[in-house]
Amino acid sequence: MNVGIDKISFFVPPYYVDMTDLALAREVDPNKFHIGIGQDQMAVNKKTQDIVTFAANAAKNILTEEDKKQIDMVIVGTESGIDESKASAVVLHRLLGIQPFARAFEIKEACYAGTAALQFAIAHIQTHPESKVLVVASDIAKYGLSSGGEPTQGAGAVAMLISADPRVLQLNNDTIALTQDIYDFWRPVGHDYPMVDGQLSNETYIQAFQTIWEEYQKRYKKTVADFQALAFHIPYTKMGKKALLAALENESETEQERILSKYESSIVYSRKIGNLYTGSLYLGLISLLENGQLKAGEQIGLFSYGSGTVAEFFSGTLVENYHEQLLTNLHQNQLTARKRLSISEYEEMFNDVLDVNADNNYEDTLLYSIASITNTIREYKED
Ligand code: HMG
Repeated sequence: MNVGIDKISFFVPPYYVDMTDLALAREVDPNKFHIGIGQDQMAVNKKTQDIVTFAANAAKNILTEEDKKQIDMVIVGTESGIDESKASAVVLHRLLGIQPFARAFEIKEACYAGTAALQFAIAHIQTHPESKVLVVASDIAKYGLSSGGEPTQGAGAVAMLISADPRVLQLNNDTIALTQDIYDFWRPVGHDYPMVDGQLSNETYIQAFQTIWEEYQKRYKKTVADFQALAFHIPYTKMGKKALLAALENESETEQERILSKYESSIVYSRKIGNLYTGSLYLGLISLLENGQLKAGEQIGLFSYGSGTVAEFFSGTLVENYHEQLLTNLHQNQLTARKRLSISEYEEMFNDVLDVNADNNYEDTLLYSIASITNTIREYKED
């Protein structure tokens, strides 16, 4: 049975910081951010915009009333949960008006959680081909003002509808995962920002890709030549390129150029958004589909990496007329409509943290933004 991504869309908050502005404010050469890290802009959110806001806005782009009747599972992958107990997927299920006889839950394993959700969804559709699963990867990547990770921050969500006979990407049955207990990036309960060993995280990412890629080639008898493009988890756009270059070392120059040019197509949106954590690989996939001029029948390899660490490599085949399902204009308009913040506006927004212990009403024009807090419960602005 063919199972995979039937529809896919992203949502990012309506504010960004320009990386030249940030570099100058931090007294760093702007080339370090634009070239060394590979980021041009970074998405920033208000305190009234959380992972539910992003998830609901991303999902509403792709769901029809018919989909809402057929969806029997809602899974949110996130590491920016708003509750230690209740899943954001339950709130999302209500906000979107999905039929009641559905499962809704949240999955965690750093940036890998979106892929865990996707794999769970695929297994479900294989046994229930008449149903559909909504998978959303939603996060806020914050490292702290003037921290080493600051230029790699970001925020937003990717929503995917998973079904039988998908119209975008049919997933091939060739996945391979790798788990290693390493502290490269982690966030103990109660900490607002992650602890991160930047150097170790870079090294572990590259090592995980090399290990998994070697094993994948052995197990599935495939090589780079089988793929039209490889999409990566993109914590910052230089990262995937580093892993790719290491893996392509022994390939011909033509082959290296072919894959690297598609990698450039996969990072167009991430350069303007930053790290989406769980959504980053899938933002890269959207960027590749909307900017990469790929053809039906071509194969894409996908490398998912979550610190801690779990990594997975799997692949998909593009479906006939897949481009008819893409929301390219909506995505590009969303990015151009964002407001550029000055560094002082960004810092003020960054430090203005939501107090869930204080009952309050909030004003935010964005759909599904937080309208009030009562007894620690968030109410969202609806249609
Ligand atoms: P840093 O110490 O600020 O930067 O940290 P650096 O000194 O390593 O420089 C970065 C690059 O800029 C280097 O290039 C420099 O040469 C270059 P590279 O050697 O790497 O190719 N550079 C310049 N280039 C041009 N002109 C200049 C210039 N100056 C320097 N003037 C670091 C960078 C990424 C470590 C930091 O931002 C960080 O800690 N980020 C957060 C952690 C992270 O993103 N790790 C990635 C792998 S882990 C992962 O992907 C999982 C994650 O998404 C979390 C999850 O799973 O939940 C993070």
